[in-house]
Amino acid sequence: MRSSLLIRQADSCAPRRPNPHPGQLRRPGPPRGGNQERATLRLLQLTDMHLYADPNGRLLGQNTRRTLDLVLELAAESFWPVDRVLLTGDLVHDESREGYEYLERRLVELGAPCSSLPGNHDAPAIMAGALDGGLISVAPSLRCGRWSLIFLNSTLAESDGGHLDGFQLNLLETALSAHPRSPALICLHHQPVPVGSNWLDTMALDNPEAFFAVVDRHPQVRGILWGHVHQEYTARRKGVLLMGSPSTCVQFLPTSNAFALDALTPGFRWLELSPDGHIATGVQRIAAYPDPLDLSSVGY
Ligand SMILES: [Fe+2]
Repeated sequence: MRSSLLIRQADSCAPRRPNPHPGQLRRPGPPRGGNQERATLRLLQLTDMHLYADPNGRLLGQNTRRTLDLVLELAAESFWPVDRVLLTGDLVHDESREGYEYLERRLVELGAPCSSLPGNHDAPAIMAGALDGGLISVAPSLRCGRWSLIFLNSTLAESDGGHLDGFQLNLLETALSAHPRSPALICLHHQPVPVGSNWLDTMALDNPEAFFAVVDRHPQVRGILWGHVHQEYTARRKGVLLMGSPSTCVQFLPTSNAFALDALTPGFRWLELSPDGHIATGVQRIAAYPDPLDLSSVGY
């Protein structure tokens, strides 16, 4: 099922395309010289979009196409241009090919290359079939300037929890061994450390020891980035920056023992990766939900 997501050869980071919203640009990106090795990379993470085939599809009261639109408008205004967009799972909620095709059409309008990996709500084979060969890469690793960007599939069939099987761990080891002097950012869907929310942490990566055993052998790893938790999370482990991020639709209440929504609004994470391995990052959120949020929900 997932092989088509995994066997693509690594590609490289394509040059940025012109800003699709020049009139809205508040902050120009850094000047682009001829040597991308010396440039700071600007990445935009969009995660947990939970799109539907139905344009009117709603999750907990929110039209997820509408909240994604608002997040993209904010990104275009405040953090553009970018070198690459990172899509870290739960792209589509109803496992529909139409949902992925809509996402690709929407992202083509941005004009920036994208990389994707699946989450527990995705259908990896449908996702790969819909996205493969288009603007949204499903390659498991790529070179972007001086950096290695690695995209792992942590999904388990019929489970909301996460696991990295031997294939994924070998892929990680191979990608890191190939470029030992290049700083690396690892992306996956499930959190590899507890975020302090009991219900969410029962759906975390179930073999973090195996994952961190690989990470710890490669000191060039500078950051680990995930989705799934629908909230901002930042910590450090042995000097590696750990980052969880808000969804582009509904947010989960941090440190809650049981499922609970947060009134915080949807958003994105921005990252600036320096050639020396430093990561600057932050989260931006839209001003308000477009529709009332169903805070009484007990699940999704
Ligand atoms: Fe999600």
